[in-house]
Amino acid sequence: MAGSTDLRQAFGQFGTGVAIIALRDSENRPTGLTVNSFASVSLEPPLLSWCLANDSQLFDEVARAGRFSVNVLAADQLDLSNRMAGAGDHVLQPDEFDEGTYGTPLVRGALAQFDCHIHDRVELGDHIMLVGGIDATRHCAQGRAPLMYFRGKYAGIDVEACNG
Ligand SMILES: Cc1cc2nc3c(=O)[nH]c(=O)nc-3n(C[C@H](O)[C@H](O)[C@H](O)COP(=O)(O)O)c2cc1C
Repeated sequence: MAGSTDLRQAFGQFGTGVAIIALRDSENRPTGLTVNSFASVSLEPPLLSWCLANDSQLFDEVARAGRFSVNVLAADQLDLSNRMAGAGDHVLQPDEFDEGTYGTPLVRGALAQFDCHIHDRVELGDHIMLVGGIDATRHCAQGRAPLMYFRGKYAGIDVEACNG
């Protein structure tokens, strides 16, 4: 089997978008975490998934949360992505989120927002997979560029070419 450095580099060849998982922590603070493990799972019923490292500072908060949102970031949200990917403060500021129908924070300006309840949690190696049942979703009109991640770095995409 490949070593973990090889595996990380091989996984990194798969270019992804970037999302922020947002939830209320145990003190009811709006809290965010940057991920690229987001995946669509099912249309009927509507399900999605993402994975969290077992050693994340936010593991206990995610484990106890009943709900979370997945917020697909636009290219102009790079600074927020970096902040929510660092060790330390993961609190969203009042101008950075709105509240969904169920009280879940939704990141303002995201290309898409998925407001979810926890459908399932699956322990898988050094990560846990969270499966969200989607209660509500919103997405913005065409034209804005997504934030992308490829080979361990943020990357650009030619949205005009995609819209064509
Ligand atoms: C682009 C990007 C994607 C990431 N994807 C994930 C992910 O899918 N799952 C995860 O657990 N951590 C992921 N991380 C790392 C977390 O954002 C980071 O570990 C966390 O926010 C920092 O808190 P921690 O030190 O408690 O882990 C990603 C980081 C970046 C920059």
